[in-house]
Amino acid sequence: MASPVTTTHLATLKSQGNPIVMVTAYDATMARLADRAGVDVLLVGDSLGMVVQGHPTTLPVTLDQMVYHTAMVRRGAERPFIVADLPFGTFQVSVEAGVEAALRLVKEGGAHGVKLEGATGQVLEIVRMLTSHGTPVTGHVGLIPQSVHGLGGFRMQGRDEANARRILDDARALQDAGAHMIVLESIPSDLAATITGALAIPTIGIGAGPRCDGQVLVVNDLLGMDDEFCPSFVRQYASLAGTITDALSRYAGEVRAGAFPPSTQP
Ligand code: KIV
Repeated sequence: MASPVTTTHLATLKSQGNPIVMVTAYDATMARLADRAGVDVLLVGDSLGMVVQGHPTTLPVTLDQMVYHTAMVRRGAERPFIVADLPFGTFQVSVEAGVEAALRLVKEGGAHGVKLEGATGQVLEIVRMLTSHGTPVTGHVGLIPQSVHGLGGFRMQGRDEANARRILDDARALQDAGAHMIVLESIPSDLAATITGALAIPTIGIGAGPRCDGQVLVVNDLLGMDDEFCPSFVRQYASLAGTITDALSRYAGEVRAGAFPPSTQP
């Protein structure tokens, strides 16, 4: 088995100019396939609230559900570094609640590190506490989906100068607090390049252009699992919605026609 990915390895990838490959995973099967494909980081994202649970936002996802999915991903993957999202309603309550939630994702879920959105004073304090005890933390700035209602929808951030400056300051503050990596979501490509150049830690973009240290996509999006939803920044590397529907239709047809199972089967 190749050696497991560590925070040191991720930092080295940045310093050597080698892109970091991150993708979301929510269960052991996908984790195993992503591991086999050579993905560096698996993100057990709270996007599972939308792509697995069918909610319109990530807000309903609970900590118990995140622990459950993280444990599945951990069982499926050997090499990738596994990051689990702190869901809405955990770290927003208090520093203690945020730290306790993060420790559950590590202790019960088996995550190697956690991710939390934003850079409020409370978030920075949680990052400081976790990293001082050796728990790696990934930051997340730009479009932070848990604030979707406050942001007025899933829309690009950092378009005007003041907002761009705030996102850069937030990224710096997260690095200073001890974060080892930062997700930049839905911000202009130039801003992502500026942040990537300004930080010593790796940046991982989603809808943030090519000049980040790595990229992340929601696995269901890149596999084309939903043929009615494809954000403009996504590239679909497969069209599984059609492939799966076709396979299931053929199965249904053969069961109804009496062609499966075959009469020769004992
Ligand atoms: O929840 C998630 O999948 C994420 C990615 C979109 C970065 O946070």
